[in-house]
Amino acid sequence: MPENKATNYPVNPPKLHHTTFTTLRMDQMVQWYGLVCGLRPVFQSDEASWMTNDAANHRIALLSPPGLKHPTDKGHETGIHHTAFEFATFDMWLNNYIRLRDHGVLPFLTLDHGITMSVYYQDPDGNGVEIQVDGFGDWAASSEWIATAREFAANPIGIFFDPEKIVLAREEGMSFQEIHERTRAGEYLPATIPEDIFLPEVW
Ligand SMILES: [Fe+2]
Repeated sequence: MPENKATNYPVNPPKLHHTTFTTLRMDQMVQWYGLVCGLRPVFQSDEASWMTNDAANHRIALLSPPGLKHPTDKGHETGIHHTAFEFATFDMWLNNYIRLRDHGVLPFLTLDHGITMSVYYQDPDGNGVEIQVDGFGDWAASSEWIATAREFAANPIGIFFDPEKIVLAREEGMSFQEIHERTRAGEYLPATIPEDIFLPEVW
């Protein structure tokens, strides 16, 4: 028998695969994740749904076991704040914002974190869903930046922006890099800056 020492941890860590939520709004949740993230159910029953939007057998699952209760103060309780999905390009990311806006789905937070530009939505249960594009278009570069940039250490939350100003900037022909830099410089601030990043109560 090999010795079970802490130093025997595996060299290759497992990959993050899926998140499972409990819900009392199964149909609404399935519909919402389909609209917002293109997740489609691969298996569904009254008490559970497994959904994916890529090659994995599921990425988000929903469970509704008997006896389940709503949280009492979700926005201020510990737990998951948001899950995040990433687009490969700025144009795909911004087009998705426009598509959802035209469906009446609007973000409750919009932040340029430096590492990413991110819009945050709430699903029908009030869980956060971040949709992002890498600020550098490159995981190695953004990983280096988050670990070393004083700018990030000074303000890890980032700079708020008005997504409509970003849409306009792109229409004016500005590149992603320029828009990202101008956003970081605070040129596209929203009319009202949110006071905190708690999940708003949605019911
Ligand atoms: Fe995030």
